[in-house]
Amino acid sequence: MSPSALSSADINLGTNPNDLEPYWMPFTANRQFKNAPRLLVEAKDMHYTNAEGRKILDGTAGLWCVNAGHGRQPIIEAVQKQVATMDYAPGFQMGHPMSFALAARLATMMPGDLDHVFFTNSGSEAVDTALKIALAYHHAKGNAARRILIGRARGYHGVGFGGLSVGGMAPNKRQFGNLLGAVDHLQHTHSLEHNAFSRGQPTWGSHLADELETLAELHGAHSIAAVIVEPMAGSTGVLIPPIGYLERLRKICNHHGILLIFDEVITGFGRLGASFACERFDLIPDIVTCAKGLTNATVPMGGVIVRKHIYDTLINNSEEPIELFHGYTYSGHPLACAAALATLELYHTEGLFERAAELESYWEEGVHSLSEAPHVIDVRNMGLAAGIELEPRPDAPTARAFEMFLKCYDDGVLIRTTADTITLSPPLIIEHSQIDKIFSTISECLSKVA
Ligand SMILES: Cc1ncc(COP(=O)(O)O)c(C=O)c1O
Repeated sequence: MSPSALSSADINLGTNPNDLEPYWMPFTANRQFKNAPRLLVEAKDMHYTNAEGRKILDGTAGLWCVNAGHGRQPIIEAVQKQVATMDYAPGFQMGHPMSFALAARLATMMPGDLDHVFFTNSGSEAVDTALKIALAYHHAKGNAARRILIGRARGYHGVGFGGLSVGGMAPNKRQFGNLLGAVDHLQHTHSLEHNAFSRGQPTWGSHLADELETLAELHGAHSIAAVIVEPMAGSTGVLIPPIGYLERLRKICNHHGILLIFDEVITGFGRLGASFACERFDLIPDIVTCAKGLTNATVPMGGVIVRKHIYDTLINNSEEPIELFHGYTYSGHPLACAAALATLELYHTEGLFERAAELESYWEEGVHSLSEAPHVIDVRNMGLAAGIELEPRPDAPTARAFEMFLKCYDDGVLIRTTADTITLSPPLIIEHSQIDKIFSTISECLSKVA
């Protein structure tokens, strides 16, 4: 059935909640949702259509992933053609041309010698793969004692045991006791006291990177394998790196032989007005993870991009026939490769990363126009991402932001919330008038919530 044929008449809208019962929804208040469902049935360019036939302006690019906008014809055609030509090919001891073409294309988008790519199916798998590559790299160099992985408080690195362990969002970890042991965390860089209402990168906070020196002293620098950070922390509420912070991390990692991993699952593919954050910040991490915008979210896919010295150590200098015992049934899936190649071409031909850079100042003006709005205690922005932090209700943290989410949805704008922060990350094709609509809707809804 084509998406347009899937009308509200074909779907049980949940008038009988039992129909919705069997599906266990991810990261969702299941019971609440099933009592009052929000079902999306179509998507085109900047808009979703919901099951009631209403258009919803997408202020979040789905989940930070539909960077080129919805229902883009070249991607649809590439996937349709591929599924009709070859649906699947095994990726172990076999290959198909598109995964090689895609890796080569991705490598040309990366700065420096970030030039080899391992494919996964999600950001979580990309993170766990990156952490395993870091450990295997040190092992191959005869430094197996380097096994501690350092993450950061409030970091989000997906939901695998590795990513969860280095991640720093407490609610995500609370229910799962058995995480990786050899892990430590840097403190996060968020400070309302010093950085509230910064435009772009805050000036305060680069010194927080020096905590890595403290951890190196505490654990012994030679026991630390890697540090993983999101260059801009997205899911925790858009925390922008202070000026000089990432540069300092790079310097300390260099000094101690620690690998630096940038988790670019959100910041990859134009979100910050450059191909990747590492391009924007003019830094070369040792390993970069990506997913989401890689295929414009049409087919699940993630990737891990490594520098030449890592590939050489693990592959070219290996004495084993199979150099790394790791991979997924769907690594480099033909449909995902077709979607990704078409997506990267679309980003290029439409100049969408440059477009995001051009829109940044208009976007910044828009979001900071909310600085005086009721309940707002911080506004943060970079590229086409923004966080609007609200004062939590004393008796009910997160409730005010969630109410905002519901009100904005009713008023035709999709926003996202995490704790008491509204996060925004529209498709890069957004127009000025649509930016205005997002911020005027949020402003009106802010004046209505208690
Ligand atoms: C920085 C980062 N890493 C990893 C992930 C996990 O990606 P996925 O949900 O595709 O597993 C996310 C998802 O939002 C993310 O933002």
